[in-house]
Amino acid sequence: MLRLIVILILDYLEVCGTRLINHFFNQHEWPQPKIIGGYSTPYGAYPWQVELQANIGGWEHHCGGALVSETIALTAAHCLKNLKKSQLRILVGKHNLSKNDKHEKTYKIQKILVHPDFRKDGPHSHDIAVLKLHSANSKGVRFDSHVQPICLPEYHTNINEANWCTVTGWGAQKQDDMTSLSKVLQAASVHLIDLETCRHDDIYGGRHQFILDSMLCAGNLEGGVDACGGDSGGPLACQINGKFVLTGVVSWGDGCGKKNRPGVYTRVSYYADWLKQSIFELET
Ligand code: ARG
Repeated sequence: MLRLIVILILDYLEVCGTRLINHFFNQHEWPQPKIIGGYSTPYGAYPWQVELQANIGGWEHHCGGALVSETIALTAAHCLKNLKKSQLRILVGKHNLSKNDKHEKTYKIQKILVHPDFRKDGPHSHDIAVLKLHSANSKGVRFDSHVQPICLPEYHTNINEANWCTVTGWGAQKQDDMTSLSKVLQAASVHLIDLETCRHDDIYGGRHQFILDSMLCAGNLEGGVDACGGDSGGPLACQINGKFVLTGVVSWGDGCGKKNRPGVYTRVSYYADWLKQSIFELET
């Protein structure tokens, strides 16, 4: 009964970045080799996680993404290259890729907006895109106990206040080997690494892609905890003032979980204005 009331209130207030199913990392459980150094999640603990599937001779897992409203999801721009919107679809309420989940629903894509500067400042630059879901009733996704939106940061949101951040996805253990995807959604706890450190010569300094202010590095410099192939587009969620905020979008990295090669994410706060404008355009 109480649970029902909470669901109704959440539905009414449309609070972003909250969840009914908690997930505390169990340090006694062995980390999974998928999403490098992560843990299996309880169903519903990351209710904003979406799965982006592509039809390449049959629907298959392609990327992650994050739900930010009833009709809008964010992902990485590189997830959309060479694909038409008819070859893509979005699943919400997904947990186990090898079965039908109770709260899962599939949506076609009505519109894609790739950032206009994608790849203009290097091969991984401005790696962000907005997707509008197509739904028959045009109301879009119905939020429930297992499907909720995540909050978007403001341009000035100080992510250093975040005590911990979590990256989630079904990504593969071996990069680009989609046959080694994780069945159950994985989550890994990662530290934010400041830009100055990330630009060091022994990290990502002097490479084909300069670490731009619009990027964010996160992981573990000793290696072992990271996102990997198939996690792209998925959320790096940080808890700020009790709410989960979409702080990063999984974008790139040199291999996965290697020493001195943290994951590089699109810094969502950098795009706050572009996102507000694009989402407004798409929703109206
Ligand atoms: N590019 C990969 C993808 O398309 C994800 C890269 C993230 N890599 C990392 N080491 N954090 O799924």
